[in-house]
Amino acid sequence: MPRVLIIGASRGIGLGLVERHLADGWEVHATTRDGSAPGGHDDVTVYRLDVTDDGELAAMIATLAEPLDRIIHNAGINRGSRDEITRVNADAPITVIQALLDAHLLVPDGAIAIMTSQMGARRGRTGSLGDYGDSKAALNDEFRRRADRWRQSGAIALVMHPGWVRTDMGGSGASIGVTESADGVAAVLDDLDPSQHGQFLTWDGRIHPW
Ligand SMILES: NC(=O)c1ccc[n+]([C@@H]2O[C@H](COP(=O)([O-])OP(=O)(O)OC[C@H]3O[C@@H](n4cnc5c(N)ncnc54)[C@H](OP(=O)(O)O)[C@@H]3O)[C@@H](O)[C@H]2O)c1
Repeated sequence: MPRVLIIGASRGIGLGLVERHLADGWEVHATTRDGSAPGGHDDVTVYRLDVTDDGELAAMIATLAEPLDRIIHNAGINRGSRDEITRVNADAPITVIQALLDAHLLVPDGAIAIMTSQMGARRGRTGSLGDYGDSKAALNDEFRRRADRWRQSGAIALVMHPGWVRTDMGGSGASIGVTESADGVAAVLDDLDPSQHGQFLTWDGRIHPW
């Protein structure tokens, strides 16, 4: 059974990804901030993790026994102070993924996807991206800086825009539902090959401009 770790799985797209992988027969490992099972699914191995908490990250890494086939860093916020948004959206995904790679917790040619956003793309925009857009742009920049190193660690890694999705963050007027987004993200990762390492892709498999 392939093994996936979904980081930030309590609700929204993260919960959708848990349910997609369970339906596809994966062994699902997932994190929530309160340590409760996402969606009440008791067949998921759960880790308590606030992605900004180094102690909880170390505890999760110590508990994960075998390498994972797929890691999805989904946790993100669009409210709070600029500092908080930067720590959760830009700094934490890099810290968490780097720690998992340093601990050799990804199989060779295993997949990594980090949820970014089209709001973090600078191409075609003038003026401020706002705190949220800036945080995702900073994430994308650091991802590109680390891409060679992460490939040498055996990863096939992407940043992904999940679509404008009807979640607490995306709002009820967004264009697609959680299931469509999660199914799309999973399908992109199912078909991933090493030539795609380092790309910025959308949930429906298109290359997004940086
Ligand atoms: N929805 C969209 O239209 C859209 C568009 C582009 C990109 N995205 C990105 O897609 C990802 C998921 O978005 P969503 O719409 O599903 O958001 P959401 O419904 O607001 O859910 C956010 C998830 O992130 C978790 N989270 C937040 N801060 C965390 C922290 N410090 N540590 C650990 N987990 C934390 C939340 O856990 P709690 O329940 O504990 O708060 C929740 O599980 C985010 O990275 C977001 O930026 C979303």
